[in-house]
Amino acid sequence: MAIISTLLSGVSITELIYKSLIAIVAYWVFHLLSQLVIPKDPKVVPTVFSWVPVMGNAVEFGKDPINFLKSCQKKYGDVFTFQLVNKKVTACLGPDGNQFVFNARQNLASAAAAYNDMTKYVFGRDIVFDTQHSLFMEQKKFIKNGLNIDTFRKDVPLILEECNLFLDKLEPKGQVDAYHMFGALIINTASRTLLGPEVRKALDDGVAQLYYDLDQGFRPINFMFPNLPLPAYRKRDEAREKLAVIYSQIIEGRRSNPDNVQDDLLQTLMDSRYKDGSGIPDAQICGILTAALFGGQHTSSTTSAWAILELSHRPDIVKALRQEIIEKLGSLKAEFTYDNLEELPLLENIVRETLRLHPPIFNMMRRVVVDEMVYEKNGLIIPKGNYICAAPGVTQIDETYFNNPMKWDPYRWSEKTDPVHIMEQGDDANIDYGFGAVGISSRSPFLPFGAGRHRCIGEKFGYLQLKAVIGTFVKRFDFEGVTEHVPKPDYTSMVVVPENSNIRFTRRD
Ligand code: HEM
Repeated sequence: MAIISTLLSGVSITELIYKSLIAIVAYWVFHLLSQLVIPKDPKVVPTVFSWVPVMGNAVEFGKDPINFLKSCQKKYGDVFTFQLVNKKVTACLGPDGNQFVFNARQNLASAAAAYNDMTKYVFGRDIVFDTQHSLFMEQKKFIKNGLNIDTFRKDVPLILEECNLFLDKLEPKGQVDAYHMFGALIINTASRTLLGPEVRKALDDGVAQLYYDLDQGFRPINFMFPNLPLPAYRKRDEAREKLAVIYSQIIEGRRSNPDNVQDDLLQTLMDSRYKDGSGIPDAQICGILTAALFGGQHTSSTTSAWAILELSHRPDIVKALRQEIIEKLGSLKAEFTYDNLEELPLLENIVRETLRLHPPIFNMMRRVVVDEMVYEKNGLIIPKGNYICAAPGVTQIDETYFNNPMKWDPYRWSEKTDPVHIMEQGDDANIDYGFGAVGISSRSPFLPFGAGRHRCIGEKFGYLQLKAVIGTFVKRFDFEGVTEHVPKPDYTSMVVVPENSNIRFTRRD
């Protein structure tokens, strides 16, 4: 303070403003010249030009990241670095970029270094990215073990019961925001099936508000600034602590009543053992369940909303879907089961195509934790601290792999005429990082669930829940969009949501 007041003594306000302006302009000119004039090292990844210092490319990226990435790809190639305020991100696009990021060794580029600053405040300590990588892989295996076909068979009636209870409350006719409606429905179906009847009941008794407060710690701002002394951050921390207490009581309740054995993820975790023989502490169970719930919550809500919005502009596909259900189940009144949901290819392809054109998570990041990482294909060097970013959201709409890529066309998955179906993808689908075989090559252009060691383990449950929810809505309601075309994407949340997801509906039953 003393230095500043000495420097400023005798300086008038006008002079101060004038000097500040000169300093800003000089800094700005330096920023531009440093990008245009200073020769570039050909071994270093090209940097995207930015007009504004500090902010870098944050505004263009924030507005429309997919078009930003595509236009940079045209100019700089598949690998380039851009700046998002305090972060430098090296985009690695195309199938090779997907493979480079998703198969990166843990000690070179880490998801924990990219995400843990944010996730530890939401999920809690010692789990997911806040523990050794090998322990996280064990935790993923526990979740995967709990998501098996026997459990799914029991889950479907529960999902349908929640769906029907929820949809019964809608007026015979009206207008609703599909994203919010499916969000409210999916927290019920997911908590009923994954977390169990006690948590589902607690949702109605105020736990929903705790999840809401916790969710406020999961916004793009939290990625930039994980912890600030603001009320939303305080509420997030209080919610996490209160949830831990509630879960401990539920776990205690089950342990003290051995007859109360449920077939859900909570029970799987209570019965699981780490490789060293130790059980999972209650606080970790709470965090793992929260991570599983959050993993599927917004992703599935937005996918259901996009599917219904796309369908609302394709009455021919709605008709074909109803026909498919009638042919398989006998009537639209017949209930879905796990087995008959597996035999409805159009319904499955509606979900798949929606995930292609509207992936909830279009890019995935890791952070370089060694002095430098080399992009093998062209020898370019990526320095320590940079984020490397794969963007399946870009390959999924690239005409090199998908014909007429901006058209929402579920039939492309049954006709299999897209180039993606004949391209060689790589033989890394069978690698087991500790939670079973990954199941898909990281070189695939279609990766809405990621690939490699951080690949989603909720894909099968996600598909099941989405098919049950979308199928039930289509059986029970006629609907139309309120906009002339399918709405544009809004990129301001952690997942990509429709800009306007209002639909008009009329009950059919
Ligand atoms: C439509 C639904 C879903 C979509 C689109 C989706 C998408 C993804 C993506 C893209 C990743 C990779 C993230 C990365 O590489 O950084 C991922 C990972 C993961 N997802 Fe999902 N997910 C969905 C549903 C679920 C569900 C229902 C669960 C839990 C039951 C779940 C749990 C997880 C977990 C535990 C990971 C691993 C994270 C890691 O290893 O870093 N997801 N998901």
